[in-house]
Amino acid sequence: MQRLVEVESVSFEEEKNEQSLRPSSWEDYIGQEKIKKNLRVFIDASRKRNEALDHILFYGPPGLGKTTLSYLISNEMNSNIKVTAGPMIEKSGDLAAILTNLEEGDILFIDEIHRLSPAVEEILYPAMEDYRLDIIIGSGPAAQTVKIDLPRFTLIGATTRAGMLSNPLRERFGMHFRMQFYTHEELAKIIQKASLKLGIFCEDNSALEMSKRSRGTPRVALRLLRRVRDFSQVSGEKSIILKTCQYALDELGINENGFDEMDINLLELLISNRGKPMGLSTIAAALSEDEGTIEDAIEPYLLANGYIERTARGRVASVKTYDMFRLTPPKMNSDDKQGNLF
Ligand SMILES: Nc1ncnc2c1ncn2[C@@H]1O[C@H](COP(=O)(O)OP(=O)(O)OP(=O)(O)O)[C@@H](O)[C@H]1O
Ligand SMILES: [Mg+2]
Repeated sequence: MQRLVEVESVSFEEEKNEQSLRPSSWEDYIGQEKIKKNLRVFIDASRKRNEALDHILFYGPPGLGKTTLSYLISNEMNSNIKVTAGPMIEKSGDLAAILTNLEEGDILFIDEIHRLSPAVEEILYPAMEDYRLDIIIGSGPAAQTVKIDLPRFTLIGATTRAGMLSNPLRERFGMHFRMQFYTHEELAKIIQKASLKLGIFCEDNSALEMSKRSRGTPRVALRLLRRVRDFSQVSGEKSIILKTCQYALDELGINENGFDEMDINLLELLISNRGKPMGLSTIAAALSEDEGTIEDAIEPYLLANGYIERTARGRVASVKTYDMFRLTPPKMNSDDKQGNLF
């Protein structure tokens, strides 16, 4: 029997809404085909050997399905899942308590794993590698290390900032999976399935319209769906038709590329620099946003879709962006193109 244990719950409205739409089977989990294929092989193999699954790291921008996949794995393995997050584990004793409460085959899911403190990470190393807890009792010359055996468990770590993970921690994960942005077709499928769960049918062209404005991200797609559904229900419609969908999206001020205010601010800022590259710290200061959020949540989609380019000297808006704003691109200095990081 699968049991779900929340070590501590991060419950707010959005999270609750999301849980009701979270896929509970592989069939409902659309896209990320390569990851799913690999995972199924590893899960089958470990089930055949009757062993715990190797530790898994998921990384990529917010809202792409890392948490959802982790729950699916626990379903598939028929294991308990204990859920916590890096910032919640303040002291090494907190982690020791979580680890000693695990049972054979349990999954421990640590969200935002890049935010574990170095002292807590130290506890995790032997636990991941040798299923062992090393506790130091006392201090100075009288200090003693007590070793406690742990059950074979699987750690699933999720992070939006793979670059911030320390090397020793990263290397202890047997599998690393980078989440991809979703295609319009995949998002449309996600929207249609979720829409049925919400009790309303969504027509194909409406689903596609929403998917185009979702920044390649299921979380955004589902948020748009909930708002569009409100408009449809108020209009007394039994299904989500294109006209209402377009009206709702325009009323909500959703850009035709799905860009939000931060995306637009960033693109406008780069354009205002007239082709000269702008460094991350300057961008962060100008937008009053922290560098991490820009690098992990805002930039990846714009980079993946060619709206900005990253050069050795900073970020520039691409020709595509100038086209979008109906502006003529300035002549790029060829030096700025050198050392392109991608
Ligand atoms: N492949 C998918 N198929 C269907 N729905 C999905 C898929 N991926 C994500 N979702 C939906 O999108 C929502 C957000 O996904 P999830 O919470 O797993 O993202 P995340 O990567 O963990 O984000 P964060 O980095 O912010 O923690 C979920 O509620 C889920 O319903
Ligand atoms: Mg998550």
